[in-house]
Amino acid sequence: MKKVDLSVAVLAAGRGTRLKLPFPKVLAPILGNPMLHYVLKSLEDFFSSCKINAQVGVVTGHQSELVNDFLKSKNYNFPLYNAYQKEQLGTADAVKSYFKGVASANSTELTMIVCGDTPLLRPDFFATMWNTLHEQKKLNAVAATFLTKDPAGYGRIVRSKKQERFIIKEDKDASSEEKKINEVNAALYLVKTEKILEFLKIMNNKNAAKEFYLTDLFHSNFNALALCSENEEDFLGVNDQDQLEYVSKILKKRKIQSLRSSGVIIPDSSSLHIDFDVEIEEGATINPGSILKGKTKISSNAVVGPYAILTDTKVHKGAKVFPFTVAEDAIIGEKSDIGPMARLRPGTKLSSEVKIGNFVEVKKSEIHKGAKVSHLSYVGDAIIGESSNIGCGFITCNYDGKNKHQTIIGAKTFIGSDCQAVAPINIGENCFVAAGTTITENMPDGSFAIARSKQSTREGMAKRFLKSSDSDKVNS
Ligand code: UD1
Ligand code: CA
Repeated sequence: MKKVDLSVAVLAAGRGTRLKLPFPKVLAPILGNPMLHYVLKSLEDFFSSCKINAQVGVVTGHQSELVNDFLKSKNYNFPLYNAYQKEQLGTADAVKSYFKGVASANSTELTMIVCGDTPLLRPDFFATMWNTLHEQKKLNAVAATFLTKDPAGYGRIVRSKKQERFIIKEDKDASSEEKKINEVNAALYLVKTEKILEFLKIMNNKNAAKEFYLTDLFHSNFNALALCSENEEDFLGVNDQDQLEYVSKILKKRKIQSLRSSGVIIPDSSSLHIDFDVEIEEGATINPGSILKGKTKISSNAVVGPYAILTDTKVHKGAKVFPFTVAEDAIIGEKSDIGPMARLRPGTKLSSEVKIGNFVEVKKSEIHKGAKVSHLSYVGDAIIGESSNIGCGFITCNYDGKNKHQTIIGAKTFIGSDCQAVAPINIGENCFVAAGTTITENMPDGSFAIARSKQSTREGMAKRFLKSSDSDKVNS
């Protein structure tokens, strides 16, 4: 095993009472991921950019099984452990639980402590802390601080006269003079592990909140550096739903900036929603009002929206997704045109140059190159061959009340308007189905089918069925 250079404790045991969510605060969703994911992702980026061999332990408490389920569902490129804090007795007690729960935690020289509710932390600030502690070897710790106009609620950085040392006064314990200090504790620390272990033996909860404060580590003789950032935004913590929305907006801004700088065309981002993991290639256009969720991928020169809603959907090169299209777990092939007002349900696979028009619903179906379903149709559990044309109002009758059945339509087949295919059914290649036909029998390649009652026309008979005023109009 490679030597581990750094252990990181992520504190995530708090209930997050003020958020009023039915699950722990660190699982609060932000642009498609739980808040905790952003913290772990930033750590991952920091480890790889600084070539650090690190391990991470997440301290959970309230509804810990939900947090652990999330951690199991992810695959970060560092070893991930969890530790359990039985009662939320304060941040120092959380760190104590971390050392108890992660056996290898005390074997690294340095420990980083991060809060799970600060999703905007950037990898380069972690790196600055790391480099600072390596350059100034006598330091026991580096604490991240930042300047804010509104320090209420935060621990204040009370520096000594010569500015060499500092202590952290929690809001509840600060004097009115100390409360005016606008340099505050970001609750992000890099500390020599032995110094934390010493502190955990002597910590107490003699303070206004009767909590074990980790901030007590920074006593007046402790050789530590408060590394002050002017970028308040990066350290924002989420304690209520307003802050959750605020932080989401900042992450969205970062996402939009990175997309635009890579050549994605976004004319108006204000009404756009993009999950953080959505991938979009250079030259694609995302028009206003669109919602792109989950693992959606948009390839170059595709145009999406306005007002398209795509979830876990792949849009290949040059495809156009017109307004009010809703797609989930679908693949849209190169240069295909979808919508407006189309619905692609899970399992839809469209090859290139397919046309799906307005009010068409497609579910679990393959539609091959150049085929068209242009208007008002339902295509479920079907395969439609290359260059076939499906007329307006076509329905696959795929469900018999118990089971779903398949419809197969070969290449270059023409299906007239208002036809139904009663599945299971196989319509061959180069077939022609007359309008208004209900297909109940398989059709061999090259065949023609018509199934509708014969028309009977009686001259002059309409007036029998029309009201007199209407018939006058007809006769006039
Ligand atoms: C903490 C700092 C404060 C700092 C602020 C920055 C302390 C005592 N105070 O205050 O100086 O300005 O962060 O945002 O550290 N947690 C546990 N177990 C517990 C208590 C907390 O795991 O028993 C976790 C929470 O889930 C959270 C993090 O620790 O992720 C911080 O706890 P929180 O209660 O939010 O601390 P603050 O009051 O914000
Ligand atoms: Ca907090």
